[in-house]
Amino acid sequence: MKEIIFSAATILLCVANTHAQNALSIPATVTGAAINLNVQSGTRNFYPGFTTPTYGVNGVWMGPTIVVNKGDSITINVTNNLPVKTTMHWHGLHVAAHNDGGPHQSINPGATWSPTFKVLNRAGTYWYHPHGAGQTDPQVSKGIAGFFIVHDAEELAFNIPHTYGVDDIPVAIQTKAFDELKQIAIATNMDTALFVNGTLDAYHNTPAQVVRLRLLNGSSLRSYYLGLSDGQNMHQIATDGGLLDTTRTVNKLLLSPGERAEVLVDMTGRAGDTVYLRSYASLLPKGVYGADTLGVGVDSVVDYGANFRNGADFNVLQLRIVAPTTSPVTTIVTTLTSMGAINPAAATNTRAMVLDTFRMLPMDVPNRAAGPFAINNKSFDMDSINEVVYLNTTEVWTLKNNTLVAHPFHIHDVQFNVIEEHGIPVRPEMRGWKDVVLVMPMDSMKFVTHFADFADDMTPYMYHCHLLHHEDDGMMGSFLVVDSTKLTAPNFAIPTQTSLIVYPNPSNGWVTLQYADAIKQPELVTITDITGRQWFKARGNHQKWQISTSAWPRGMYIATVSNAQEVATVRFVVE
Ligand code: C2O
Ligand code: CU
Ligand code: CU
Repeated sequence: MKEIIFSAATILLCVANTHAQNALSIPATVTGAAINLNVQSGTRNFYPGFTTPTYGVNGVWMGPTIVVNKGDSITINVTNNLPVKTTMHWHGLHVAAHNDGGPHQSINPGATWSPTFKVLNRAGTYWYHPHGAGQTDPQVSKGIAGFFIVHDAEELAFNIPHTYGVDDIPVAIQTKAFDELKQIAIATNMDTALFVNGTLDAYHNTPAQVVRLRLLNGSSLRSYYLGLSDGQNMHQIATDGGLLDTTRTVNKLLLSPGERAEVLVDMTGRAGDTVYLRSYASLLPKGVYGADTLGVGVDSVVDYGANFRNGADFNVLQLRIVAPTTSPVTTIVTTLTSMGAINPAAATNTRAMVLDTFRMLPMDVPNRAAGPFAINNKSFDMDSINEVVYLNTTEVWTLKNNTLVAHPFHIHDVQFNVIEEHGIPVRPEMRGWKDVVLVMPMDSMKFVTHFADFADDMTPYMYHCHLLHHEDDGMMGSFLVVDSTKLTAPNFAIPTQTSLIVYPNPSNGWVTLQYADAIKQPELVTITDITGRQWFKARGNHQKWQISTSAWPRGMYIATVSNAQEVATVRFVVE
């Protein structure tokens, strides 16, 4: 059996190698105070004789690179010319929840969504992609994704490559699956077609000097263990959230879906050579999608072993080294920014995120490699709020993976610092600002983050697994960032704990008030409007209250739940 798979893989690789190589597409840039993104559909001919329906932004396949400076105030007009709803999320950007482009900012066919915000992020490589409830994988796989590059004065002053497409090269890596008719397929493990910036079998004419690769893993499932085929080291200068404090020399780099890394590679004097950016997937740890093994026994993924890329090394991008430019960068910078870090001692709250299979009933025995998966055993629900965070607080989140597959955990709104992995303080090479972290099978991870700037009682942010199939399947939760000082009103104490949640918000005729923690038992529940008029009052020991709001006027309401130990308030809206 092993033999057969091996020879099938060899044949496929030979076929791939006889293909005409294609010049790497360098996405056009869009910049300025008003950026227009037209989301559209079309077709491409990736395979002779087959027409493949695709999606794209300002074109029919992939999207342009947004380039902005920190401090810019921008409006992005996202026009949906697709026949279906979409959304557009600015992955890694620190923006208000209503500008974030999550599942709650759905854009109808024919409509334009125009978030306006100030760019607050550090210089770095961010990206954008659709994020509709249950629709992320289909729309990303069909071609909607682009880079979102932020520059700042500090980064522009360093002697590092800055010429986009020449020595500062965007490299978005994606594998996709095609069915027999060469239609892009999702919810399959046969993602054998490898694209860089939407180009199959890509080569890039790379000048013989120091070049900067902005690596993005935009794949739905697959992780890469990236290195150079000539064995030379790469010099990492940035993680998800921008520049590091000092350059980190790495031979290989594990990049999971959603993650970015910027590396410098030195091609000085190499004109005429060919070097490959390669994934050394045979070295990926078991349980990482792309490694040779995922799961064991009944806890396995159907067809995983049939995909020739799993556990095999393969080329990602051919670098054809050509003559240097007229003013090349020839040295590798060593000292970078004052990166900063959050002091975990400042944390006033901790939260646990358990990444596990989803059990509808306690006796369910789900597959620990194939799922379905959920976070804290809650499957994503558009109308629920899973967590409430207070504005201007620092929190430590523990990510605990109880499954046999590695999950890249991503949080919106903030960047974080990883402080612990499998219970021990983090390795130095894990420092830096991150918004995605890969949590290994049966392992744990801890990060510290700070929630600043944007409070909104109604619109949540997301946290989720960035394996898009898992995300769409419900491995996602929502959190509100609320300003506790705005929750005070005469006779109401400032809430002392954060586990009281209200949903749906706005109410849809009913609201549910619920404690996340079963030990907290409310005794008195009252609901008033903002004028102080009382609309509901009851006593009882319920962990969950369901209250009809259908007869109440539109407006903001304040629910107060109290027992002998504490008083908690939450606000919600009746529409
Ligand atoms: Cu890259 Cu919530 O997404
Ligand atoms: Cu995101
Ligand atoms: Cu996952």
